[in-house]
Amino acid sequence: MVSFKSILAVLAASSSCLASPLTNPARRDGDFKSSVVESLSGPPLGWAKDESLKLNKEDMKISLRIHLVQQDMDKFHELAINIATPGHDLYGSHLSQHVIDAMIAPKDESKDLVMQWLESEGMSDEASLSPRLDSVLIQTTVDKIEKLLKAEYSAFIHATTGDEVLRTLEYSLPDVLKGHVDMVQPTTFFGLRALKSTISAVRPVSQKQQPDLNSTGPVSAVTGCSGGQITPTCLAHLYNFASSTSTQTTGKFGIAGFLEQYAIKSDLSTFLDSYAVFSNEDTSFTCTAVNGGSCTSSTAGDEANLDVQYGRAIAKSIPITFYSVGGLGEWVGSGTNTNEPYQEFLTYLLGLTDANLPNTLSISYGDDEATVPNSYATNACNLFSQLGARGVSILVAAGDSGVGDTCTVDGTKQFTTAFPASCPFVTTVGGTTGTSPESAWTDGGGGFSNLFARPSYQSSAVSSWLSTDTTHTSFSKYFNSSGRAYPDVAAQATDFVIVVGGEEEEVDGTSCATPTFAGVVQLLNSARIASGKAGLGFLNPWLYGNATSALTDISSGKITGCSGVITSAGFDAVTGWDPATGLGTPNYAKLLTIAQDTA
Ligand SMILES: *[C@@H]1O[C@H](CO)[C@@H](O)[C@H](O)[C@H]1NC(C)=O
Ligand SMILES: *[C@@H]1O[C@H](CO)[C@@H](O)[C@H](O)[C@H]1NC(C)=O
Ligand SMILES: *[C@@H]1O[C@H](CO)[C@@H](O)[C@H](O)[C@H]1NC(C)=O
Repeated sequence: MVSFKSILAVLAASSSCLASPLTNPARRDGDFKSSVVESLSGPPLGWAKDESLKLNKEDMKISLRIHLVQQDMDKFHELAINIATPGHDLYGSHLSQHVIDAMIAPKDESKDLVMQWLESEGMSDEASLSPRLDSVLIQTTVDKIEKLLKAEYSAFIHATTGDEVLRTLEYSLPDVLKGHVDMVQPTTFFGLRALKSTISAVRPVSQKQQPDLNSTGPVSAVTGCSGGQITPTCLAHLYNFASSTSTQTTGKFGIAGFLEQYAIKSDLSTFLDSYAVFSNEDTSFTCTAVNGGSCTSSTAGDEANLDVQYGRAIAKSIPITFYSVGGLGEWVGSGTNTNEPYQEFLTYLLGLTDANLPNTLSISYGDDEATVPNSYATNACNLFSQLGARGVSILVAAGDSGVGDTCTVDGTKQFTTAFPASCPFVTTVGGTTGTSPESAWTDGGGGFSNLFARPSYQSSAVSSWLSTDTTHTSFSKYFNSSGRAYPDVAAQATDFVIVVGGEEEEVDGTSCATPTFAGVVQLLNSARIASGKAGLGFLNPWLYGNATSALTDISSGKITGCSGVITSAGFDAVTGWDPATGLGTPNYAKLLTIAQDTA
């Protein structure tokens, strides 16, 4: 990390970039006049202030990221799309991070102004510039940050998960930093939930053959599928990768883990003993701790075990890295750390060398877009666009609330959307259920972003749906048809058998669909890399173009939601792209042919 003092020395040496304090307009009044830049009327749904904790703010440490406005982000996004568009000259020419960083570097003036402000607040010793020079990082105590940001931090607890975070509902910045700083965290962003929604049945191993007759759909029509349960063997037949016999060890499959959800190796072994598809499968994974996370062998998380068990079973012998990202809860009691995990994770990945990056990344976490501050969502989405341009295919769960849960935003009735599902630089995976026919899963997430505009790669698919689907018109006022529409694709999302703490469970959620689709994508990426091609990187222009014909269109069932708020709310799965199941579910063998034919 570059220290603040060495930066000042560099700035002073390059005389043109550091304005003299006397002539700097910001300092004319001897002060940095500030205004509120972000303010929430209350914490997001599910969170409440935890008054029971006595916070010792003079001793509690916080690490704050002051993110600088990056230049030319629109131009970079255009480049990121071109790199991912088959037929474009630049297709597959993934970029090194230093090339990206040079393209989008913040103005020198932005760094200077932040540094001057911190100096005037007597905090320059605790500040440093981030390795990629896009943020100023401060490690200090909570009371000092409260004074700096005119903020009041409180402990908040989540009603169902019991997660605790330290956040403020409001913060201020000097007016002179407008246009120079676009985000300060941790402040107003509360975090993302694991998207595994329900445990529909918990049964001892001895009863594992007992069919769950009341599961949401019959799956026995497909070889390897029986008893209403989804297993890796069932998916292998349904998604046509059962006959893929190669023992591929090229590449790396990344699985994101947050919220102290740990993936347990002994549970993976137990799971594979019963459910491995291939006899030559690898049976393990590497755990990498990020941002103070830990790689423990106890306290299994359903979400983490689900992701790793299905990822492993599908990706066969391809190395898997489970990223155990810390940043939640450590501060309680010991008062040491309040890093915000998500941004820190993406920043960590961008810091990896090309050889260490995963080819595919599976993320089964998300939250309502309306509860994520715009500045936060925009920045995280910008980081995803960079990962895609580096060559990583990113799969994100569409959410488990259909068209919405509360369906009221700022007092207005509307369908609610999920983030990061709504980011146009990720591939969002919706849910299906049953096999005869495979249909939309009623709770699978789908909708239209209120923050991100519709990207060009989906404009023809989405316009076509808007002009031909007849059932959505009565709900037009509840969704923003100009926004980025999702999901892009879908996969099975109900009745997945997993092993947790040695016992079998069944789970539902787009958390099931995401590692499934991601596993298939990793098989494609490894096959391409093994034959000397680049990985697929950001997938969407390819999926909406050359690869559409290799997806199985889902045209029955619907997603629903907004119960008690908007009557009969939902989107139908229809022929072609739709906001229930996107372009459809994977057919590995067909996708492989197209992936290998794409330059
Ligand atoms: C993919 O699509 C592009 C653009 O339409 C086209 O130029 C290219 O030939 C296609 N490639 C394959 C393998 O279909
Ligand atoms: C399935 O659900 C129906 C209605 O909820 C119930 O009557 C039936 O007994 C259930 N069957 C089994 C096998 O649990
Ligand atoms: C609709 O989405 C666009 C982005 O495409 C956004 O700019 C606009 O503010 C949204 N409208 C509402 C009412 O949120």
